[in-house]
Amino acid sequence: MKIRAVTGVKDILPEEIWKWQFIEEVSRETLEEYSFSEIRVPLLEYTELFSRSIGQTSDIVEKEMYTFEDSKGVNISLRPEGTAGVVRACIEHHLLSPSSMGKFYYMGAMFRHERPQKGRYRQFFQIGAEALGSGEPELDAEILSMLHLLMHRLGIKDTVLEINSLGCRACRPEYRKALRDFLKTKLDLLCSDCRRRFDANPLRALDCKNPACKDATVNAPQGMTHLCPSCMDHFESVKALLTELGIPFEINGRLVRGLDYYTRTTFEMTTDKLGTQNAVAAGGRYDGLVEELGGPSLPGIGFALGMERMAALLPENMERPAKIDILIAPLGAEARRQALLLLYNLRDRGIRAETEFREKSLKSQMRQADKIGVDFVGILGENELTRGVLLLRDMRSKEQTEVPLNKAVEELCQRISLKEKGESFPGHVKKPER
Ligand code: HAM
Repeated sequence: MKIRAVTGVKDILPEEIWKWQFIEEVSRETLEEYSFSEIRVPLLEYTELFSRSIGQTSDIVEKEMYTFEDSKGVNISLRPEGTAGVVRACIEHHLLSPSSMGKFYYMGAMFRHERPQKGRYRQFFQIGAEALGSGEPELDAEILSMLHLLMHRLGIKDTVLEINSLGCRACRPEYRKALRDFLKTKLDLLCSDCRRRFDANPLRALDCKNPACKDATVNAPQGMTHLCPSCMDHFESVKALLTELGIPFEINGRLVRGLDYYTRTTFEMTTDKLGTQNAVAAGGRYDGLVEELGGPSLPGIGFALGMERMAALLPENMERPAKIDILIAPLGAEARRQALLLLYNLRDRGIRAETEFREKSLKSQMRQADKIGVDFVGILGENELTRGVLLLRDMRSKEQTEVPLNKAVEELCQRISLKEKGESFPGHVKKPER
């Protein structure tokens, strides 16, 4: 019997990987412009890290983590998200100080044992950013503007930025009480999960997907009406700054997020193009998390975007960039030898070149060139060899020119670099020249 991939885990095949590389490349460039530094944290952490940060009563910790005991009986988990590990690493390696900001980004696999469906996997990839050290609303606006710019550069349209404020340690208890008082009258209507979480985590009833819970909580009190003056000022400033930056947003008072570490601003970028798994990126402030995990009292904010969902949203008319600049089509053994030498020198100059070492007719080599979409084909037949030339065919204009073999590398480098200057990744907004 054939062994298949584990349920909910997806292979990313070469035919799709270029989209991932594009997202990674543009994200990396954008994050570094905002002075975020890459950090790579482990896929394995002590389970306690996640129960203390994401929360014991969160869905992730309660039922979605891949957890096992190591040979010493210690509980280890595959990371379900990146924030906790980044904060743990920052504390462990003393990367945080009250005098400077810490800005970190990561790209990698996360694991959650959820029910698999389109856009929801058990192993999925995130690109995440965490900014630690400032509680000011300008940082919230900077993070959201970065996310907005990134989407624009990737050519991803039709997303909506939803924001909310969950308040702070001072005002959240009062809101929880108001919400609990409301939910108490609706307990019979709520699903078993929401009833169970009623005491420890009543906020989750607001983003429960169960239609009965949605109906029962239509008139539930919203967090925003219970914010303390300082949280209210903070939220008003974030909204004003976003408006000034020209970044559209919607207020969603039910956006409570499933991870317990959030305080104040929370947000999700959603789309109606992906069915029920509609969040492409999400995040928020976590002003108490660093301290909770044993570090200094420093606020933080961040987000993560889902790679699978982003790749599905890239513009449909995006063309796969040519993998190969030139195909050398040799006919016969001596031509293959010349092709080998030519290819070596072309690749040495950074040109992506390929050939056919099997005995194939010119017709079949041209068919192959069409199939892989190369821009140039260099034909080396008996006739060309005798005269010491390469017959260069521009596959777009169909023009053919003869180039002396001993000048072929120079000529090809020039033509290919000229072509590349005029092109960039489709969808990618070119930065203005400085
Ligand atoms: P999250 O909302 O759990 O937040 O995940 C962020 C994004 O990861 C989601 O919006 C979605 O695009 C993607 N995602 C989550 N679960 C899956 C899944 N099972 N399959 C496919 N994609 C998925 C966090 O993880 C926070 N750590 C974000 C954050 C960073 N908050 C502050 N800093």
